[in-house]
Amino acid sequence: MRYFKHILFLLCIITSFGTLKAQTRDIITLKKGWKFNKGNHPEAIKSNFDDSHWEDITVPHDWAIYGPFDKNIDKQVVAIEQNGEEVATEKTGRTGALPYIGEAWYRHTFSLPNFNTNKKAIILFEGAMSQPEVFINGQKVGEWKYGYAYFYFDITDYISTTQENTLAVKLSNQGESSRWYPGAGLYRNVSIIIKNKESIDQWGTFITTPLITQEIAKVNIKTRVSGKDLRLVTAILDADGKQVNSNETVQLFNNEFDQNIAINNPNLWSPESPYLYTSVSRLYAGNDLKDEITNRFGIRQIEYNQKTGFSLNGEITKFKGVCLHHDLGPLGTAVNKSALRRQLRILKDMGCNAIRSSHNMPSIEQLELCDEMGFMFLAESFDEWAKPKVKNGYNLYFDTYAEKDVVNLVRATRNHPCIVMWSSGNEVPDQWGAEGVKRAKWLQDIFHNEDPTRPVTVGMDQVKATMESGFGALLDVPGLNYRVHLYEEAYNKFPQGFILGSETASTVSSRGIYKFPVEKASMKTYDDFQSSSYDLEYCSWSNLPDDDFVLQDDKPWVIGEFIWTGFDYLGEPTPYDEAWPSRSSYFGINDLAGLPKDRYYLYRSRWNTKDETLHILPHWNWDGREGKTTPVFVYTSYDSAELFLNGKSLGVQKKNNDTKQNRYRLMWMDVRYETGTLKVIAFDKDGNPASEKEIKTAGKPHQIVLDTDVKTIKANGEDLSYVTVSVVDKNGIPCPTATNQLTFKVKGEGTYRAACNGDATSLELFHLPTMKLFSGKLVILIQSTENAGNIELSVSGKGLKKGNISLSSFK
Ligand code: GAL
Repeated sequence: MRYFKHILFLLCIITSFGTLKAQTRDIITLKKGWKFNKGNHPEAIKSNFDDSHWEDITVPHDWAIYGPFDKNIDKQVVAIEQNGEEVATEKTGRTGALPYIGEAWYRHTFSLPNFNTNKKAIILFEGAMSQPEVFINGQKVGEWKYGYAYFYFDITDYISTTQENTLAVKLSNQGESSRWYPGAGLYRNVSIIIKNKESIDQWGTFITTPLITQEIAKVNIKTRVSGKDLRLVTAILDADGKQVNSNETVQLFNNEFDQNIAINNPNLWSPESPYLYTSVSRLYAGNDLKDEITNRFGIRQIEYNQKTGFSLNGEITKFKGVCLHHDLGPLGTAVNKSALRRQLRILKDMGCNAIRSSHNMPSIEQLELCDEMGFMFLAESFDEWAKPKVKNGYNLYFDTYAEKDVVNLVRATRNHPCIVMWSSGNEVPDQWGAEGVKRAKWLQDIFHNEDPTRPVTVGMDQVKATMESGFGALLDVPGLNYRVHLYEEAYNKFPQGFILGSETASTVSSRGIYKFPVEKASMKTYDDFQSSSYDLEYCSWSNLPDDDFVLQDDKPWVIGEFIWTGFDYLGEPTPYDEAWPSRSSYFGINDLAGLPKDRYYLYRSRWNTKDETLHILPHWNWDGREGKTTPVFVYTSYDSAELFLNGKSLGVQKKNNDTKQNRYRLMWMDVRYETGTLKVIAFDKDGNPASEKEIKTAGKPHQIVLDTDVKTIKANGEDLSYVTVSVVDKNGIPCPTATNQLTFKVKGEGTYRAACNGDATSLELFHLPTMKLFSGKLVILIQSTENAGNIELSVSGKGLKKGNISLSSFK
């Protein structure tokens, strides 16, 4: 868990050190004031290096997201073995076709005039893509390899108190090092932590809740410290900040304090009620306060049991989860908390209760939000172990770094109540062979040593091999990626008594695009490089959502699923891996802009048990399809519904067991298209009309309409409002096929940050203030400045009435 932050920049560091005497530690998050340059600049480690011509940037930063997209970037001529390919072909957009390869340097300066021999300084990186080498005042402090790892170095002996300190970071990215867009740069926070020599160690606190009853919870807090003759006082505060108990101890076990603190009538953490407590630990030497840290935690019990599967707080709970890659669409990989919050809001409405950080360490921001908003978390570490999937992947570092990377993952994140499971790997080729079994055990033991409270899984695709070798049997949680046909056999062969769908579906679709005839198909491609939103297209290794639903509904030992994926991501444009200009995925339930595809409503109809879902597809603008068969699907939480076209009934459909699709979707397969109104009336259990929805054929695009659910943002230079742009005809009916080119202007205390339309084949750059609509929509991201005030966005397009929206920001 993160310490409270003091975001201090160069100018205020001196004052803060001078004035805040009682302050025991400072965390200086280096956001502004960075200089950046691509290329190799070994001379940039020197303090007197002239970087005045370098770009001014803020961190988190992704140098590659500004493009341009280029077919030749990281063109991988490979056979993707895990997809069953045997012959190498040219894969163009596999890593997003964005310029992430190469070297680049970051520089920053800071003064620490009050630093003295009683203090210690640490530099902490929450992710640096990749192979970071860190220098201070011309000296190398250390290096790391994995771009997703959290790591820190002690820089006490490198800093100067008499002159400005120069921090220089070199990063370098190789081609063929990833299967998706990895991003590039210092894409997560970099902080300098100044504390006393006698202090709590970095990631030194471990909070668990080993006993929970209705009346009492035992909170165990282990705190690693440096120094002698110390005393630790820990107070627990409830969500209102009221102290509920405290404990004081002088008893050290080696360098660790071990406190048990009782909480009466504890409020438990769960996705439905994400209650958080705070611990405040103060470290004293005599009466001198030496250190103070604050951690948020939750009281919750997790159990994985052979008979009942997974339980949270004693209740059998199924994972209604999604896998997410780390990029944030048009923002690239530069972490942004409001972008992550928006993703989680969208997923919450769908009824999702869990996230898997595929296939690497999550951002700390994402974990903080999952704690607060109520999502369980499967934190993954690696996509490769010692055997390669891509030539320059993690296989190069596995032997030397895997242990350190796992230890840091666990220590940095273990106090987040949202994390309920670790994953040591995804579809690692080491599933084959005896060394792989050993590696699986070795990694799982590292996780267990660091955290005895959570189980470990691996997403397995070589299920037959892992049944034979013992690989699957040794895991705490056997995770199956796809392979729905092997669930039953795996359940029988594996000893755990349950199966997790660690990765499911990989159904593909493009928002608002529908293809005819409507039929189930594997690896189906079309001339426009889009996939159909009738949600019947999947990959040769994958399946449809309904196949997973059947297993979960009929087999109580399936403990849930993590769908591939919650949102589209940059890179891996299957089934168009070889088709330029496809450059981002088609797997998302939501597109790259975060706009829901139809599939969103299919999952919502099942997962969101509080709100009704009633959704019609396709859109009803089919110029040229008059009289042709144009099936209509309804995704709904109701069991049955009647469809009407221009007032004429097309009959009642009821969910039934005829096919897997019939169980979960209402489908009218023989509708003949005519313009007009398509209306659906849903019935409750007694057959009474309960709800209705209609969609209409739109005329020509007439007016631009802007809409956002976040009209007020924080004036902190980071917060975002996502504005959805659509066009309507002169009667206000949305135009679902519009592709107008639009331009954007922002005035006042906001800046234009990026736009995205969700089209996986678009080569328009996100940061330029113009873009075409895709299937009638796009999304604009407006970022606050550091001044509070009004923000005006206007959007125009040729022949269209302008759209305007007013937002405001506050301090
Ligand atoms: C899985 C893999 C994911 C992604 C997905 C696409 O096998 O774990 O990273 O490639 O396939 O369907």
